[in-house]
Amino acid sequence: MKIIVTGASGHLGANLVRRLLDDGQSVRVLLREGSNNTAVEGLDVERVYGDLRDFTGMKAAVRGCDRIYHCAAKVSTLDGDPLLKREIYDCNVLGTLHILQAALEAGVSKVVVSGSFSAVGHNPEKPSDETVPFYPFSPHLPYGFTKTFVEHECLKAFANGLNVVVAVSCAIIGPHDYKPSRMGRTLLDFANGKLLAYVPGGFEFVAARDIVEGHILAMSKGRPGQKYIFSSQFLTVDELMDIFEEVTGRDRPSIRIPGPIMSGIAEVADFVLPRFFPNVPRRFTSGAVRILRMHRRADISKAKNELGYQPTSIKASIQSAYDDFLRRGLIASK
Ligand SMILES: NC(=O)c1ccc[n+]([C@@H]2O[C@H](COP(=O)([O-])OP(=O)(O)OC[C@H]3O[C@@H](n4cnc5c(N)ncnc54)[C@H](OP(=O)(O)O)[C@@H]3O)[C@@H](O)[C@H]2O)c1
Repeated sequence: MKIIVTGASGHLGANLVRRLLDDGQSVRVLLREGSNNTAVEGLDVERVYGDLRDFTGMKAAVRGCDRIYHCAAKVSTLDGDPLLKREIYDCNVLGTLHILQAALEAGVSKVVVSGSFSAVGHNPEKPSDETVPFYPFSPHLPYGFTKTFVEHECLKAFANGLNVVVAVSCAIIGPHDYKPSRMGRTLLDFANGKLLAYVPGGFEFVAARDIVEGHILAMSKGRPGQKYIFSSQFLTVDELMDIFEEVTGRDRPSIRIPGPIMSGIAEVADFVLPRFFPNVPRRFTSGAVRILRMHRRADISKAKNELGYQPTSIKASIQSAYDDFLRRGLIASK
């Protein structure tokens, strides 16, 4: 029984593929030629190359597979220019549509699609569960909109007879982060003394091993057409800095920029930077600051009750991300 993982070169995919191999599964990975594919170097996997935006290529990629983990997506906290918006939409929404359609045509038995907490609605009164609808008229990033439409495509495919489940992820932290991710870059900058300031706020974080376990549980026990939120822990940024200090042995940046001031700075930067450097990655976009200031919390009862999901420790995951960066020579000695 062959399993294909899309997004295998990414942070989640790299961890998921290793877990599937440890479980003795036969794994095919979807990669793109010319990308940084270090994440799968040396792994005993079958490699196929293609782009989610190419339906013919996706049909060929999934042929002969019994199960699909569709982790690939264009992750972005930028509002971006029209070209970037188009790329995010095409990769995420059309890409998922292609995978789901290809799965239906190939008679794949089950698909797990990676969802995002940014596509779950926000209720300031209580932690959000899977029933809280996404509210489209508050400010969202293009990425958040597309992850909502991804869920819509999953429901359409379910209505057409596909066994598909959405595994919703919060902010992932953990090892095998080869790009590295936004959280990984923050930890690296902290460990290398390059994080000059931080913004208070809070968010739900998920350990890489927990979101991998969530995907495995969604595949083995998830009810068709359902979504499940997986988180390990809510942390304020101050609590995150406490853990970073313990793990790295360094002090946090002395500058703690109050949220309203940072929002103002980020909004000015949002206005100025896109005109000159529209697609340059930035740590504090106003979208990212807004999300941190919302202190969004997740209710993971559904995953616990239906799937038996048990989150582990974010601190242990930060430690293993740090150890992995250290092993790869990305952290300079103090
Ligand atoms: N990281 C988080 O904190 C977080 C939070 C919530 C939800 N999620 C969701 O979790 C999933 C995995 O995220 P991640 O953190 O692992 O992302 P990531 O590290 O940025 O990796 C994204 C992966 O998707 C692939 N990809 C993007 N566009 C593609 C295309 N057009 N065709 C083929 N492959 C394409 C990338 O391949 P290349 O190497 O070729 O670019 C890469 O392997 C995504 O669905 C994301 O929305 C992540």
